[in-house]
Order: sequence, then C-alpha cells, then structure tokens
Amino acid sequence: MKQTIVTLPGDGIGKIVLEEAIRVLDAVGFKANYVEGDIGWEFWCKEGNPLPERTIQLIENHKTALFGAITSKPKEEAFNELAPELKEKGLVYFSPIVGLRQHFNLDICLRPCRSYKGNPLNFIRRGANGTVEEPLVDVAIFRQNTEGLYGGVEWSNPPAKVYDALMTHPKFVKNFGHVPVEELSVSTRIFTKKATQRILHAAFSHARKYNYRSVTLCEKPNVIRETSGMMYKMAREMQKSEFPEIELWNTNIDAQMMWLTKNPEDYGVIVAGNMFGDIVSDAFAGLIGGLGFACSAQINPDSGIGVFEPTHGSAPKYADFQVSIVNPVAMIESACMMLDHLEEQQTAQKIRQAIAEVILEGNVQTYDMKKLPGSPDVLQKGAVSTQQMTDAIISKLK
Ligand code: NAI
Ligand code: MG
Repeated sequence: MKQTIVTLPGDGIGKIVLEEAIRVLDAVGFKANYVEGDIGWEFWCKEGNPLPERTIQLIENHKTALFGAITSKPKEEAFNELAPELKEKGLVYFSPIVGLRQHFNLDICLRPCRSYKGNPLNFIRRGANGTVEEPLVDVAIFRQNTEGLYGGVEWSNPPAKVYDALMTHPKFVKNFGHVPVEELSVSTRIFTKKATQRILHAAFSHARKYNYRSVTLCEKPNVIRETSGMMYKMAREMQKSEFPEIELWNTNIDAQMMWLTKNPEDYGVIVAGNMFGDIVSDAFAGLIGGLGFACSAQINPDSGIGVFEPTHGSAPKYADFQVSIVNPVAMIESACMMLDHLEEQQTAQKIRQAIAEVILEGNVQTYDMKKLPGSPDVLQKGAVSTQQMTDAIISKLK
C-alpha cells in the first residue's frame, strides 16, 4: 500500500522548498500520496487559527508530515491582520509548531549536522604550521522537545501560593527573600523522568543503529543539580545497563560552545534538554553551512507520528522573488529524515549521495554557498536558483 504523507507548506519559502523536496521524492521513485494540510499565517488571518482541527486530524490519520515553515508575528500585528469579523472574538495567536509538538507529544527532536565535502560554508580550522584543516562534522543532536525551560510554566509577579512555595527554599529566602514579589519573574525548568528517559533512549538507540562511538550529554549537572543532575544520573545508568558498547561523554553546555570549533569531528550523538539542545544544535549547524543545510525531525516514538522540517523559517524577504534563490537542501534533507523514519534508508541514502555529488563538484551553488547577500541579482553573479539546485540534485539520482 502506498504511504500517505501530509504536506504542510505553511508560509513564505516554506511553500517553495516543500515543492522542491517532493520533486526529489518523485524523481527517486518514492511512491506516496500527498495530502495538503492547512497551517500558518494565512489560516490565522482567515480563520483565527493557524493550526485548524482538520489539519490535526489529517496528521492523526496519516502519521507522517513534511513541513515547510510558518510565519509568526508579534501580538499586535497578529491582531491587526485578523479578518475584521474575528476581531471581537478574543482570539490569541499561538505558534502552530509548538501546538503540534504539544498536541502529539513530539518529544524527540533530532537535528543531524553533517558536512558535505566541498561545501564552501564548511568550518575550517588553522592547524599547526599555518595549515588549514577542514574537519568533517557528523553529529546527531537529540533535543528534548516539550519540557525544561520552554515548558511555559512561568510567572511575573507570581501568585501567593507560588511565592509561598518558593519561600520554603532556603536559597530563595537568602537570595531573593527581600525582593518585592511584584519585582520577581520566574521561569521554571521542569524535567520529568519519563521524558528524560525517552530522549536518552532515543539518543543511545540512534548511536547503536548508526554506529556512533559515543553519546555526549550536554548539560550542566555540576550547577543545575536537580534537572541536569537527574539526566546525567539516568544517562550513566542507561549506558551501563543497556548500551555498554557506547561511550558516554559528559560536557557542560558553556564549555561545549567554547570547544565546539576545536574538535567538532570527535562528537557523535549529542543529547540535551530543550534549551541547551536548541543552542547546541544551532551552533553545530553553523559549522556545516547554516540554515540552508539544517534539517530536523520531531517524533513521538509511541504513536509513530513524525513531523519533518528544515530549521529555517519562512524568510519573507525572499518569498516573493520572481525566481526563488533560497537553498532547498535543508528541506530535501528533512525529506531524507522522513524516509529514514519510514524505513526507506536506501532511498534516503540515494538522495544524500546525489546532494553530496552536486556539492563536491561545486558548479551549482545557491547564493548562501556563494556567500552573497540575498537579492534577485545573485543569479547574474553565478548563484543558481532554488529550482536549478533541485534539478542538479535530481540529475545525479541513480
Ligand atoms: P528565517 O529562517 O526565515 O530566515 C533568516 C535568514 O536566513 C533569511 O533571511 C536568509 O538569509 C536565511 N535563510 C533562511 N532559510 C534559508 C534557505 N533555505 N536558504 C538560504 N538562506 C536561508 O528566520 P527569520 O527571518 O528570523 O524569520 C522569518 C519568519 O519565519 C518569522 O515569521 C519567524 O517567526 C518564522 N520562523 C519559523 C520557523 C519555522 O517555521 N520552523 C523557524 C524560524 C522562524
Ligand atoms: Mg521549519
């Protein structure tokens, strides 16, 4: 039976790059039905809901979604652009991406960062004697996607019960007990054992499946003793009992950012809580070419629901160019992650091989790879269009 994929183009360049990814999937011979789900700014403006219930139903039914990108705007602008008849309804804009994560408990976020040989955006490092080295990065970053500092449990001027609870902690009394409550803002960092276990297990299993030597826990257990501390303890126990062949490394997020460019080729799988995972994955993405190359998956291993998307946004500046100039690779790579998830690894590998060949040859490069500022005239300066890049990749498919 043919797989059905829900496509979620969203806004701006999301629509453009998603179409390119589907062209590549067709060309490689992946047989699927595509059904389009409504999501994003347009549906906020027209219906007052950027993630309509019918879209949730589609994803529930078909389990696999390819997502482009959406546009979000600040509160006031969101209200101003709402259809006139909806303005009195007290609607509040929310991010449909966060909405998807919460609704389907997509708690496993995977962001691989792999450099392609010949990419002019690759990180290079000066070696001894003035030599220049280009270490190839191949890391898979697992970010807990639903809890921690982004869990949304926060207050300014916290209510009395919260304040009283805080006042039971001696450190709060000592350091903050004298501060008037209306001058306090509190954001919590909550980790649950269950979600921590799930992200660690996903990371170790990935290391085993794809032959990575190590899993690095990137947190700060020496200072954030309860949450990071719990995660580190659980990681040690899991490594010992279930994954003895894989090494467990432990780095602090701050030191990791400093050492990132020293030996990025030494890291394999990295696992972290929500915010540190967000930070460390952006940092590694910078070493392999940035937003034009950064892909991601958000998965719930129990239901098997997966949403695959580039990490870039809708880049509205570039959305209306007559000929599109943005790099489709991040979106195409996200489609490869979808194929991995559907146990179509060989098909994914064919696409990655085709991308690798195009990049290694170096004749076909989008504006970001040419290090040009993004404007329509990059096409006259030797950069190729979004479609030409896709065509080049398709021409290498075997
Ligand atoms: P953005 O990622 O859309 O663009 C930032 C810059 O990165 C662009 O101006 C461009 O120079 C470069 N860029 C992005 N995608 C590229 C590609 N495929 N190829 C080459 N260069 C690329 O982030 P920005 O401008 O901060 O946000 C624009 C809108 O996107 C906002 O409304 C924001 O809320 C939304 N957004 C949505 C995300 C999502 O859908 N997952 C993620 C990030 C932002
Ligand atoms: Mg995205």
